[in-house]
Amino acid sequence: MKASAGYQIVTLNEFIINRQEEHPEAKGDLSRLLHHIGVAAKIVNKKINKAGLVDILGEAGEVNVQGEEVKKLDVFANDHFMAAVKASGEVCAIASEENQEIVTFNDGLSRDGHYVFCMDPLDGSSNIEVNVSVGTIFSIYRRISPAGERAHVSDFLQSGHRQVAAGYVIYGSSTMMVYTTGNGVDGFTLDPGIGEFCLSHPRIRTPDDGRIYSINEGNYVHFPMGVKRYIKYCQEIDPESHRPYTSRYIGSLVSDFHRNLLMGGIFIYPETQSAPKGKLRLIYECNPIAYVAEQAGGMASNGTTRTMDIVPSDLHQRVPFYVGSSRMVDKVHDFLREFP
Ligand code: AHG
Ligand code: MN
Ligand code: MN
Repeated sequence: MKASAGYQIVTLNEFIINRQEEHPEAKGDLSRLLHHIGVAAKIVNKKINKAGLVDILGEAGEVNVQGEEVKKLDVFANDHFMAAVKASGEVCAIASEENQEIVTFNDGLSRDGHYVFCMDPLDGSSNIEVNVSVGTIFSIYRRISPAGERAHVSDFLQSGHRQVAAGYVIYGSSTMMVYTTGNGVDGFTLDPGIGEFCLSHPRIRTPDDGRIYSINEGNYVHFPMGVKRYIKYCQEIDPESHRPYTSRYIGSLVSDFHRNLLMGGIFIYPETQSAPKGKLRLIYECNPIAYVAEQAGGMASNGTTRTMDIVPSDLHQRVPFYVGSSRMVDKVHDFLREFP
């Protein structure tokens, strides 16, 4: 990876172009799309930074002082990512948490687009009013239907191992974009001074083992026996394996995962009695996070099957999710096998 002469900083766009140059066969369509995702992330970031001013700027559903209707931030993020992805001209359809059905683009350019795009435009949105980090999760697949035709829902029902790129934006104490195109994971921090994402976390590797477990323990009584036993294992005293572990749970998948990715840890959202298939969505939450996790050396499963090997049957399908440092995911698998 070469930085421009005289500059230490590698911006996201420069990084994308450099990567493309390393693949002379690439035509630049994915690069263009990634660039547009970066632009949408900056727009959404600006809006989220102002969320605390809601009393001044107006509540969702109200008309603000400029006479504009104030949108919920999920809808705002959805609209802007939709528009940016469409503007790239590379995508023929989008699946979003905010839309029941897929949205297909039918102008000439987009209908020829080679990719479909999946997203959770605002993840952890219930946290936003209390100033806790939220995120955007995205995933890109090559379409199955022929270019030039209207995209079909089956374009989205592909296993996660067929993703060509995936990642997330975290709007936190600083805003970052983290993504993979199947060649490792890189992280970019937004420098608000210059309005650019700058390469800050090249080639992220997650520790093989960790000391953090992240799960909503309020649901403990509803967890499968293997998960209950694993939690007790995490809480036992064993100095050799650094137990008891630390419990950390924000309630925002992107933020919980990002911390564990960098520090080592496991995030679990299992099946519960009230959510027998788990809560998180396979296509636009679990698969993209699983791709990043694996590309950083971690693991992701539904407790028995690798997340990215599950064949989706429904756009908004939910799955149990176990993701993080490989030794920790292996360990919880042991408990799930022993206490089915
Ligand atoms: P979203 O805001 O997109 O609906 O997602 C919320 C998700 C996820 O971010 C988080 O991991 C999980 O919900 C938390 O759920 P609980 O409140 O049930 O723990
Ligand atoms: Mn979500
Ligand atoms: Mn969401």
